[in-house]
Amino acid sequence: MRVLGIETSCDETSAAVLTGEGEDFRLLSSVIHSQIEVHAPFGGVVPELASRQHIRNIQPVVEEALDRAGITARELHGIAVTAGPGLVGALLVGVVTAKAMALALEIPLVGIHHLEGHLMTPFLTTPLEYPFIALLVSGGHSQILLARGFGDYRLLGQTRDDAAGEAFDKGAKMLGLGYPGGPAVARQAEGGNPRAIPFPRAMMEKGNHDFSFSGLKTALRNHLHQHPSLQGEALADVAASYQEAIVEALAVKAILACRQFGCHNLAVAGGVGANGRLRQLLAEMAQKANLTLTFPPLAFCTDNAAMIALAGWQRLRRGEHHGSDLDARARWPFAQPNPTP
Ligand code: KG4
Ligand code: ZN
Repeated sequence: MRVLGIETSCDETSAAVLTGEGEDFRLLSSVIHSQIEVHAPFGGVVPELASRQHIRNIQPVVEEALDRAGITARELHGIAVTAGPGLVGALLVGVVTAKAMALALEIPLVGIHHLEGHLMTPFLTTPLEYPFIALLVSGGHSQILLARGFGDYRLLGQTRDDAAGEAFDKGAKMLGLGYPGGPAVARQAEGGNPRAIPFPRAMMEKGNHDFSFSGLKTALRNHLHQHPSLQGEALADVAASYQEAIVEALAVKAILACRQFGCHNLAVAGGVGANGRLRQLLAEMAQKANLTLTFPPLAFCTDNAAMIALAGWQRLRRGEHHGSDLDARARWPFAQPNPTP
């Protein structure tokens, strides 16, 4: 079964083709058109500009994905598209494109939850086994999940305020660094001392799998008031300490969740999964705790359609599909709560 995946929930226009047979699948192509240059001058994603860029780019991106896969649209067996959560105007471009193609080609269409897409990314390169604990950390979400099987996800904890990526983005803005903030803070943190400033780590008590980054943000703002015009080594120290506070909270809680739920597999997904310090810290902690750790390749940490094609193939081969009433959803709950280990 050859599936076209489409992703337009935020600021990447992406299409990918994946082929699957039995239990095996292979990614045939993945095209990601980033809008970073368009949004960077505004310091964040401007929803209307994102929609306009998607409209401009969606057709060439889909055509390129088909070309690189060496197939024509007529050789597709299904289409998967991110239906939410995300920016509605941006999502609609992908949803309408997918609907029109499915209708014209007379093939099934399936709407995918963006977070299920992210959850699939470790599988794109590694034969990961269920059950596993997932640390899903992006610009819009920060969650710890227990993935018991495909489509069976339990929510163990989530952020009470900002997502981890948002904390990076807002911190970068305060530090006068560029957008997106994660890579900018990571670059600035190079060579800095991560213990220079004792920024707070919230909700670190045992058994609490939730996150909070608002206190950290306030602490950074206060520090910058007291130390204006930071430069050079001092700026690197602040960036490194701020980054450390975020990634330490993420890593400690992910490892703790594995221990509490007796799970030996840990997988990381989402844009913040591209963070080098998070990867390093988790690798050290997972080794000590005897856990198998899986990270997606860097290109699949941030938004991409390969993950949507994979989730779509899993759903389509189970006979699931949506009708022409498929709608874009700004909000869409994901996993069921699971309070007891
Ligand atoms: O998964 P993603 O592309 O989009 C959402 O679904 O939100 O994640 C984007 C987020 C942004 O907040 C960005 O700053 C963050 O991921 N990010 C990083 C890194 N690369 C991207 N955060 C920390 N370190 C990075 N290297
Ligand atoms: Zn995402």
